Amino acid sequence: MCGIVGITGDPQAAANLIEGLRRLEYRGYDSAGIAVQQDGAIVTIKRKGKIQKLADAVDLDRMQSSCGIAHTRWATHGEPNQINSHPHVDGKVVLVHNGIIENFQVLKHALEEKGHTFISETDTEVLVHLVNDQYNGNLEEAVRRALKLVEGTYGIAVMHADEPDKIVGARRGSPLVVGVGDGFNVLASDVAAILAHTKQVIYLDDWDMAVITPEGVQTVDIDAQEVDKEIQEITWDLDQIQKGGYPHFMLKEIFEQPDTILDGFRGRVMPEAGDVKLGGLQLTDWELVNIRRIIILACGTSYHAGLVGEYLIEEYAGIPVEVEYASEFRYRSPIIDPGTLCLVISQSGETIDTLEAMREAKRRGAKVVGITNVVGSTIARETECGMYIHAGPEIGVASTKAFTGQTTILTLLTILLGRRKTISAEAGMEIIEDLQKMPDKIRSVLDQSAAIKEIAKVYKDHHNCLYLGRGINFPIALEGALKLKEISYIHAEGYPAAEMKHGPIALIDPNMPVVVISTRDSSYEKIRGNVQEVKARKGKIISIVTEGDEEITALSDHVITIPRCRAMLTPLLSVIPLQLLAYHIAVLRGEDVDQPRNLAKAVTVE
Ligand code: F6R
Repeated sequence: MCGIVGITGDPQAAANLIEGLRRLEYRGYDSAGIAVQQDGAIVTIKRKGKIQKLADAVDLDRMQSSCGIAHTRWATHGEPNQINSHPHVDGKVVLVHNGIIENFQVLKHALEEKGHTFISETDTEVLVHLVNDQYNGNLEEAVRRALKLVEGTYGIAVMHADEPDKIVGARRGSPLVVGVGDGFNVLASDVAAILAHTKQVIYLDDWDMAVITPEGVQTVDIDAQEVDKEIQEITWDLDQIQKGGYPHFMLKEIFEQPDTILDGFRGRVMPEAGDVKLGGLQLTDWELVNIRRIIILACGTSYHAGLVGEYLIEEYAGIPVEVEYASEFRYRSPIIDPGTLCLVISQSGETIDTLEAMREAKRRGAKVVGITNVVGSTIARETECGMYIHAGPEIGVASTKAFTGQTTILTLLTILLGRRKTISAEAGMEIIEDLQKMPDKIRSVLDQSAAIKEIAKVYKDHHNCLYLGRGINFPIALEGALKLKEISYIHAEGYPAAEMKHGPIALIDPNMPVVVISTRDSSYEKIRGNVQEVKARKGKIISIVTEGDEEITALSDHVITIPRCRAMLTPLLSVIPLQLLAYHIAVLRGEDVDQPRNLAKAVTVE
């Protein structure tokens, strides 16, 4: 949610910290701050608003230092203002924090009784006072003692003015990664802030601490026991996290989809055998055949991909599937029978609701498989096995290429499971052949971006929008509505098309745009009926149809065509125009599409 970066052994520490914050800006962005060590003192600057405000306030000539920490904040406790921004300081201790200290009120009260005074409304300020209170000449000892008193989640970076060039990091529930350099070391909540400096990283686990100095990295647990951590190599390039000529990351990521879905299935399909191999799955054929039930756990867009997975797996592999909001699953008493497989879907691999739901499923004895994008993320590491979607870094807050990547993996999984049950080798070959054509088909939908922008011009000032779909395209209606509302702030709802007559039809009038996904499949006749119902009430119809369509085209005010493809692959195409429509509407309204208000890329608080 928020972002942390710390660096030591770097003569340009302040400039590089600000650069690191820019790469983390997508995680949270209501305020930012930096603290550096300078001549035995700590110098701190904080600003409300975007990183640029902080950058403008920092005089790099006067902020000369080789060691510092910085933070970009997404408010949880206390409004976004300068005082509540991180870093927080008490005496000679300075600290940045991601996560939530649940018992901060109790700790605050106890510290106040000892004479501490607080200036902010944050839980984090309690933490810095706690570390200072415990300080006895050794920062890591003080941090360790303080953390033992804390309930809640944290990823922290801490410095002490008397301990030059040293940063102490610790993690519980919020990600923290160490970048291992030569003569310098880095600490960050996300590899995006590390990549410019080094590709060698150490992922910290919960209860780990790291002490970094220019000379080295020491990893210990909260009981001061040394922990041996593997140094891993990041495979993403700096180029992949830059905009590459596009005005926004979101548009770049939408246009990357022909390549990212190819990366998702390349090397995993066996066209001659009509089969799929998913190395990360680590299940034998016997175990695959004996899956009795699948529970999919996810949030937001990943949840919508899960709903597509439900349609696919039930229809083509004959296995019952339930898709659950991870946040709900973890707080009820879910029944996990023997033979239940839990699929955990998360782009970031850090969403706390999904992570905790996954842990709950494991506690209850489920076999857990992860579908994630971020290599080394917590969910990827805590699942016994899983598949990466290989979509590359997704920086735009609105998830696009991750959705099609997740859907691709779910399609592969469906083929794999179906081949062990009902799909013949020949049918498997045909599906794979069609899957291999999808990148080109996606390209042909992307080619309509300018035409979709014209439609966006017509509807950019509307206040409401309805999205309808049936069957496998119902989740696409939900996803289209989510994209529109999160970046353009237009109220949008997705509905199964037939549900419209049970309530939402009351909303339809000449001012209501209705986006209908009405591709040629078994529900075509039914959805045509739903389009007629909208038409009869003079609603404005924007339909997504299969090329060559005449009937629904004739009823529609605007039409976007997608190429013919087999029904099970349609979501990979039908979602693309909805992503573009949301994007163009938001840009035309002047919104910051990559950083929509109130949202952050990885939601690491409950
Ligand atoms: C919407 C969006 C969010 C995420 C959700 C889950 O565009 O990005 O709804 O899909 O927060 O995030 P992950 O997939 O990282 O667990």
